[in-house]
Amino acid sequence: MPLSKRTTLTQFLIEERRRFPDARGDFNALILDVALACKAIARAVAFGELGGVLGNQAGETGDSVNVQGETQKKLDVLSNDLFIRANEWGGHLAGMASEEMDLPRQIPAKHPRGKYLLVFDPLDGSSNIDVNVSVGSIFSILRAPQEVVASGRDVAEADFLQPGAQQVAAGYALYGPTTMLVLTVGNGVNGFTLDPNLGEFMLTHPQLQIPADTQEFAINASNSRFWEAPIRRYVDECLAGKTGPRGKDFNMRWIASMVAEAHRILMRGGVFMYPRDSKEPAKNGRLRLLYEANPVGFIMEQAGGRASTGRQPMLAVHPTALHQRIGLVFGSKNEVERIERYHAEPTRVESDSPLFAERGLFRV
Ligand code: AHG
Ligand code: MN
Ligand code: MN
Repeated sequence: MPLSKRTTLTQFLIEERRRFPDARGDFNALILDVALACKAIARAVAFGELGGVLGNQAGETGDSVNVQGETQKKLDVLSNDLFIRANEWGGHLAGMASEEMDLPRQIPAKHPRGKYLLVFDPLDGSSNIDVNVSVGSIFSILRAPQEVVASGRDVAEADFLQPGAQQVAAGYALYGPTTMLVLTVGNGVNGFTLDPNLGEFMLTHPQLQIPADTQEFAINASNSRFWEAPIRRYVDECLAGKTGPRGKDFNMRWIASMVAEAHRILMRGGVFMYPRDSKEPAKNGRLRLLYEANPVGFIMEQAGGRASTGRQPMLAVHPTALHQRIGLVFGSKNEVERIERYHAEPTRVESDSPLFAERGLFRV
């Protein structure tokens, strides 16, 4: 398709902004800064071993470990730096927070402060980076509290603890065979593909919609002995296929790169589960609420899908900590609702009670 027929990310944002005559352009400039960080990360990822960027980040005593207790890859640290550098100078942000930083990052005194907060996972799926699997960056944009903007004070953890429903925008970049940027500003979900010749994101996937039904699920089955009953039931029923209560066969996928799974689900439907389990009782799930579950949840809902903890809609959760972990289920609406239903029903006891028999009261 000739260039003139394509919409660039810049043009898309300007046209969106015209719907809001009072908007000053801060928000668009912020998204373009985020997109620049993603383009820089895409290049670093693409060079791989040639760029000397693979492997673990060295710390003072052995490998460097982040606040989550996870070993940092060199590319985790590099991607975090690229996000900071691209976004701290523009005057749009009151502060930032990231998976790779214990505390919120302040905007240096030499730069103006703005009205938004940027929260990000600079490189999701990075444990796979050394084996050349698709990874990505995830981001969420919130409004800074009024009083922060008015006073220009430093940001604190509490300023970021806003439910996902308050996100102004969310998105991810996927560094796969092509680099893509998927974005919602609360008006549907649009996908852009990076034209490597021009260095521009081009609108290639307008108004993405997730099919409500699916026959594909994704879960790390090595955790199955730690799952709670509703998840066990859901997966058992999928595995039973045509001969089970669902009456149809299911396919399974596990990339171990949530951003890549989210993209697959956005393209063709499916359900992803990283539920709360009993593996590490101190951790309330594996993935993080503010920079993984909420942005992906916002994208899913804006594309007609659904995101949930299993017990409540993800976007309704009131965060209690910057790096809070949470059980996460997202994807095709009817499947996520089914999983929520299984959580709401009384736990089935494995017995021969007729209530739990094949055609009993508690079977769907
Ligand atoms: P991150 O690389 O940002 O720490 O996130 C990794 C996450 C997610 O991408 C993926 O779904 C999950 O961890 C993989 O978990 P397992 O190690 O259980 O497969
Ligand atoms: Mn991640
Ligand atoms: Mn990460």
